[in-house]
Amino acid sequence: MTPNEDANLIQELFPWVSTPPIISAPMRGVSGPELAVEVSKAGGLGFIGPGLTESSLELNLIQAEKLVAGISQFQKLDVLPIGVGFIVWDSVLEVALNVILKYRPSAVWLFAAREGQKDFDLWINKLNEVSPATKIFIQLGSVTQAIEAFKSKSRPDLIVVQGSDAGGHGLKKGCGLIPLLLEIRDKLDELSYSLKIPKLPLIAAGGIAEGRGVAASLILGASGVAMGTRFLASNESLVAQGYKNALIEAEDGGQNTKRTFLFDQLRGTTGWPKDYNGRSVINQSVRDDELNSIPFEENKKLYEEALAKGDQGWGFENGRLTTFAGAEVGLIKKIEPAAQLVFKVREDAIKCLHIAL
Ligand SMILES: Cc1cc2nc3c(=O)[nH]c(=O)nc-3n(C[C@H](O)[C@H](O)[C@H](O)COP(=O)(O)O)c2cc1C
Repeated sequence: MTPNEDANLIQELFPWVSTPPIISAPMRGVSGPELAVEVSKAGGLGFIGPGLTESSLELNLIQAEKLVAGISQFQKLDVLPIGVGFIVWDSVLEVALNVILKYRPSAVWLFAAREGQKDFDLWINKLNEVSPATKIFIQLGSVTQAIEAFKSKSRPDLIVVQGSDAGGHGLKKGCGLIPLLLEIRDKLDELSYSLKIPKLPLIAAGGIAEGRGVAASLILGASGVAMGTRFLASNESLVAQGYKNALIEAEDGGQNTKRTFLFDQLRGTTGWPKDYNGRSVINQSVRDDELNSIPFEENKKLYEEALAKGDQGWGFENGRLTTFAGAEVGLIKKIEPAAQLVFKVREDAIKCLHIAL
């Protein structure tokens, strides 16, 4: 398959999405309905992230419904043209099902199940029962997980391949997107042939911030691309201005971001399955922990003091607050409207693909 034919698979599932498909990843407390709808309006697929409270899920979907009402390109759809993300280990299936049944988002994105594929199977079966039109994405970070998902009776509709450069949480023992995507593509194609089961579209995630990364991902065998960190630095993302400023300031992501458990411990967002940690910009909290060996309780106290400073609490030199971001953070130079980002990334990717083909 050529990259462009492959990318058309997504358009069959989400007819308003232009090629190459650009997806804004669900990010907890960061990607709300405004961001998701702006991305979808621009011909991408926007996801709402898990809310900070249980009730925020429904409130976000009510808001998304209002935002898409009357938009002509969405009028004939019988689903909401956005998706919703769930962190499976931390979500209540019944709550999710009630809301999905009521609002019928076009997609659900599942991530980080404590019992792996067993939990995903349960969620996929129930979600398919309540809303067959809702397509299921699962985000995975290893070849083994991808094979399990592919062979499972309750297959997802799409697999998001998350490379270890990704911002936020992911597998502690990860792999860069290039070898991961290639090995998964090859293994799943072999299985599709030997087991005579249909192929599944793969979505590339982790380290992509602009058109060149999108074009490369399509050539590597992805049908679309999901970006998180790039959309964090958009007008519509819900993070504080201080966080956005820290993203613009950060460069050389290999040196200045790292995967760590520290921020979950400092924020009290513990409980993640033990093989997950999160990539964040390195700041004074990390340096105090690793270089200055200050006791954890002292570091936590300083973290709480930084929280009280608001926007001043972020930043490379003196900042301490959690700044989840991918290794591509140095490619992000300004905060832009999400729709503009989608148009620009898509246009640049098309130019790169024309050069490549
Ligand atoms: C701030 C932040 C929050 C995230 N929250 C979630 C989440 O709630 N659920 C999820 O499936 N992935 C989450 N992710 C990971 C994304 O789904 C995606 O894998 C990642 O952003 C892709 O890498 P990139 O940031 O380099 O684009 C988050 C990422 C970031 C940066």
